[in-house]
Amino acid sequence: MRENLKKYNTFGISVFCNNIFDVYTESDFADFVKLAKRPYRILGGGSNVLLTQDLNEDILVNKIKGIKIIEEGDEEVLIEVGGGEIWHQLVMWSAAHNLGGIENMALIPGSVGAAPIQNIGAYGIEQKDAFVSLRAVDRSTGNIVWFSKEECRFGYRDSIFKNEAKDKYIIVAVQYLLQKNTQPEMGYKDVKELLSERGIKQPTVLELAQAVIDIREAKLPNPSVIGNAGSFFKNPVISLENFESLKNTFPEIPNYPAGEGQIKLAAAWLIDQCGYKGKRHGNTGSYQNQALVIVNHGGATGTEIWEYAQMIQQDVKTKFGVELEAEVNVW
Ligand code: EPU
Repeated sequence: MRENLKKYNTFGISVFCNNIFDVYTESDFADFVKLAKRPYRILGGGSNVLLTQDLNEDILVNKIKGIKIIEEGDEEVLIEVGGGEIWHQLVMWSAAHNLGGIENMALIPGSVGAAPIQNIGAYGIEQKDAFVSLRAVDRSTGNIVWFSKEECRFGYRDSIFKNEAKDKYIIVAVQYLLQKNTQPEMGYKDVKELLSERGIKQPTVLELAQAVIDIREAKLPNPSVIGNAGSFFKNPVISLENFESLKNTFPEIPNYPAGEGQIKLAAAWLIDQCGYKGKRHGNTGSYQNQALVIVNHGGATGTEIWEYAQMIQQDVKTKFGVELEAEVNVW
């Protein structure tokens, strides 16, 4: 039987696969892996994928739920979360319990099991900052394996699961350490401004989460209204030397330190300068409030979106000499 993946990806793209299976437990994943005779892929929330073709594969959707307190100290709480939990619901759970550490990542679409793969982040915090360890099913053996924080080798929107360990594991549970007396991260300009507008000096976890929700709702399209996968490209990191010469031509270019001799640029700005913000191209285009977000205006195919993305890459390369790398996984 062929099934449509339209409801399983936030771009809302219609492609067909073989069977779609919802998987609710770790042992079901382990059994499936051991018995599988046909090729299969794993999907979380489908919020970071661009589907460009029909798949001759089964799709397993991680539905493992549960948020458990493993250990509670005076200052910190260790929790374990099922890989199929919705990330934003975890953030709201932490806010309801007044536990800090992940509230700046409110409203990021997707599942908890996918969060470590690209080390999601927003407003000055990345999931690695609260991450302790994860448990995964080894796809080649069906065995359960643990990964420590070091073993995950987290980087900016990067981890071992996008490199050597790509497609080799199914992340079934993630442990995070949350803080009882949290130090809110308010360094990001938008967050600072909104809190000060609201007269909040020392926000609670919930107040900070709410500020982030309001900022995101104003700037980013809601995937249930207009198909998208958040930032389509990563912010490019270039050498200090390249940056110095770019800055001579474009003195106002936004830039952030990114480790020794390296500078991170704002992909959104580069794309915006090429005239793409709010641009429409057939059924696809760039979001009116954030040039880094590519949208499906309805009925776009994955190929159409991918061709549009490549047009952006080409124009940014021509104008600035900078390569944009897709953040979204292209299937
Ligand atoms: N800008 C423009 N034009 C635009 C949008 C932004 O010139 O259309 C400029 C802004 O003025 C600012 C800079 O670009 O100087 C950066 O923009 P913004 O603060 O909106 O953040 P971003 O770098 O575009 C990143 C993450 C987002 C995350 C925000 C907030 C990446 C690839 N994206 O976006 O994450 O929400 O910071 O922390 O790192 C995602 O990964 O899917 C995502 C949405």
